[in-house]
Amino acid sequence: MEKKNLDWANLGFGYMQTEKRYVSNYKNGAWDEGAIIDDANIVLNECAGVFQYAQTIFEGLKAYTTEDGRTVTFRPDLNASRLADSARRLEMPVFPEDRFIDAIEQVVKANMEYVPPYGSGATLYIRPYMMGTNPVIGVKPADEYQFRIFVTPVGPYFKGGAKPLTIRVSDFDRAAPHGTGHIKAGLNYAMSLHAIVSAHEEGFDENMYLDPQTRTKVEETGGANFIFVTKDNKLVTPKSDSILPSITRRSIMYVAEHYLGMTVEHREVYYDELQDFVEAGLCGTAAVISPVGKVVNKDKEICFPSGMDVMGDVTKKLYDTLTGIQMGHIEAPEGWIKTIC
Ligand code: PLP
Ligand code: COI
Repeated sequence: MEKKNLDWANLGFGYMQTEKRYVSNYKNGAWDEGAIIDDANIVLNECAGVFQYAQTIFEGLKAYTTEDGRTVTFRPDLNASRLADSARRLEMPVFPEDRFIDAIEQVVKANMEYVPPYGSGATLYIRPYMMGTNPVIGVKPADEYQFRIFVTPVGPYFKGGAKPLTIRVSDFDRAAPHGTGHIKAGLNYAMSLHAIVSAHEEGFDENMYLDPQTRTKVEETGGANFIFVTKDNKLVTPKSDSILPSITRRSIMYVAEHYLGMTVEHREVYYDELQDFVEAGLCGTAAVISPVGKVVNKDKEICFPSGMDVMGDVTKKLYDTLTGIQMGHIEAPEGWIKTIC
């Protein structure tokens, strides 16, 4: 399959409309068989549940071209089950997990020209999502839903390549409204938009959210979990019920322990501990592993010893191992890589 003639190496993290997307509708208690369609636009009633009460959830994963020319996805079964958790939390019907994986395969195959070539630095971002579609005016769930998946080729989430980021401690609590912070729902992200705009205006790359109850514990950023490295080479990563259970973070914990022989601590992390860590990073599908050089809290700065120029050594090892597994030149644990073609 011919690839599109795109400047793969210079893609940012943006939306590029492709020709094909997947759609399936839920009506009268059942999902239809689903199809690949051409229309990128959705026409819905003005009173659809998604518009009135933000009944919408999503996922994010990527397709990669491996060194030996296969097209693969990374642990899509975990996205299927997390979407199912999000659906249950928002009183939406679950899109069957086996059908989710089949739909990912169909939509990637339909967009092969957009899967970036091996070594280009770009990947195909895959965005599954679901919304309430019929009119709802009393506060209650919709009866009809649409599940869709579009894809878009992307480059790095943060501009500036692998340059360490500057994160500020957010004054705004990213609402985890009614305890929904641990799912991927539209409303959770809407409540972080003000914080991200003001962080950028003030020259920061992202926000560090603290736990809203005590403001003493590190949670996550707007689109990624945190990882930290201690002086004695342990990987530490925050545990909280109000952060998204990142698939990348769970994979890094496994890689640290089983590939790099590190001790891994998944536990509450106090803001006051940050000054003792030697490296910090963000992790997620979009962020991959992005190093953090500095955390700013009003007039106080914490600068990690790894500095503002390059990724710390341990972060780099984790990055190389994780991306090596994703791109097929390091052997993956059983079941992590799903070959599409
Ligand atoms: N945290 C938030 C708020 C996110 O939006 C994401 C991205 O989906 C992550 C963490 C990272 O999760 P994952 O590694 O599953 O992409
Ligand atoms: C992802 O990594 O898939 C996300 O949803 C994060 C978002 C900031 C793009």
